Amino acid sequence: MHISKFYSTFAENFQSMKKIFFIIAVAISVASCQQPQKNMKNEVFDNLMSRVSVREFTGEKIAADQIDSLLRAAMAAPSALNKQPWAFIVVTEDSLIARLGEALPNSRCSNHPGCAIIPCGDLSKAIEGELGAFWVNDVSAATENLLLAAHSMGLGAVWTGLHPDMQRVKTVQDILGLPEHIISLCVVPVGVPAEQPAAKDKYNAANIHHNVW
Ligand SMILES: Cc1cc2nc3c(=O)[nH]c(=O)nc-3n(C[C@H](O)[C@H](O)[C@H](O)COP(=O)(O)O)c2cc1C
Repeated sequence: MHISKFYSTFAENFQSMKKIFFIIAVAISVASCQQPQKNMKNEVFDNLMSRVSVREFTGEKIAADQIDSLLRAAMAAPSALNKQPWAFIVVTEDSLIARLGEALPNSRCSNHPGCAIIPCGDLSKAIEGELGAFWVNDVSAATENLLLAAHSMGLGAVWTGLHPDMQRVKTVQDILGLPEHIISLCVVPVGVPAEQPAAKDKYNAANIHHNVW
């Protein structure tokens, strides 16, 4: 075969091979994006299905970069009108964690967490008017993100409620010196787990209604 003929045949074959590779690549990426309805398996889904409240900790401190990741996950949450009306108090001082634990036994802060994070609503950033109450939803979404991130990192955590119990909110305000417009939603003690509770299966088909009640 003449050398110029060889090159033109090779070039044509190469072009068709490129097309075939492109089609295969698209097919693989489409297939990998489709989630089977049943037995869904991926790391994110597994993480949220296996999350569990952890209330006993070893006392080990939490590294600053881990706390940073938790806060980044929290602030990735959705919020009404994207107001992001939140603030997070990261409590690492042992004396403050102990005071929270004494004043609020429900907060599990006496159970040796490495730190406690207090997700709060910042009323100065909330929507004006009656929709301002959306801050509770927004900070709740952030808190769930935080819990899921902690679990994904092998840390234990639990949401312990403050708001709407205004007595608890006032207690935290006094201990941590929060200004009036910062309303604590909950205390999340975070630590290395000293217990391994099993995740609860809460799926209940009776909770689901299709189209109308
Ligand atoms: C709004 C709210 C308030 C909660 N308050 C407390 C609390 O004060 N103390 C506590 O130990 N757990 C508290 N929890 C954790 C629940 O008890 C826990 O999520 C529930 O029993 C389900 O268990 P799981 O998180 O392991 O799935 C609270 C959870 C939520 C969402």
